Amino acid sequence: MILSPSLLSANFGRLAGECRDMEQAGVTWLHLDVIDGVFAPNITFGIPVIASLRKQCKLFFDAHLMVHNPSRYVEDFAKAGCDLIVVHAEAEVHLQRCLARIRELGCRAGLALNPSTDISCLRWLVSDVDLVLLMSVNPGFSGQKFLPVVEDKIQALRSLLDENNGANVPIQVDGGVSPENIGRLVQCGADVFVSGSAFFNFPPYDTRLKQFQQAADQGELRLAAQVCSEWKPRQA
Ligand code: DX5
Ligand code: ZN
Repeated sequence: MILSPSLLSANFGRLAGECRDMEQAGVTWLHLDVIDGVFAPNITFGIPVIASLRKQCKLFFDAHLMVHNPSRYVEDFAKAGCDLIVVHAEAEVHLQRCLARIRELGCRAGLALNPSTDISCLRWLVSDVDLVLLMSVNPGFSGQKFLPVVEDKIQALRSLLDENNGANVPIQVDGGVSPENIGRLVQCGADVFVSGSAFFNFPPYDTRLKQFQQAADQGELRLAAQVCSEWKPRQA
């Protein structure tokens, strides 16, 4: 499994230092929650912050755009150094075009679904996505409670992908993930886990990362988990 700590829960007064601490702890991905105050409540950070962190940090940049009409900005996020760009199905009308553009820009393309959004659109998008993000809280804030209904949704999505030539497409779960529930989520079929509060509130980071890894360990990795474990930052 891959843990992608969400920068939203880090100390904003020392972002570069937080990235260094994560790298030293063995973290490989960094989840960047960009919220525009329109698609979801809250206004977080954007392109200049990401571009400046890119110069100081070698982590795989996993950008989660909670932004209305994200296609307007995918080029800027690619230039800022994002490696994976995830857009919301609810925020964009022309999804194939937007996902294709992200790939054209040299990034991996991800599609995110809010907790109440059905997975059926994936049936027509399997070959257009490199990853699917299932929200397990409503977007906006860290520290919210995991919505248990998402466990069935992960299982249903894993089956849909496996049955439609998407066994190589990883599922990311975002919201309320902790060492207490991650084992079940791996069993349901998820491969990449975002964690904000349950990671940053429990330093030291190397010990916390190991707790997540031990709780997630289910033996052999499925294909999708193997695939994304090989993704590298573009600038490395
Ligand atoms: C919510 C964000 C999440 C959030 C996760 O809008 O997309 O990434 O920061 O935080 P926790 O793990 O605390 O739920
Ligand atoms: Zn997120």
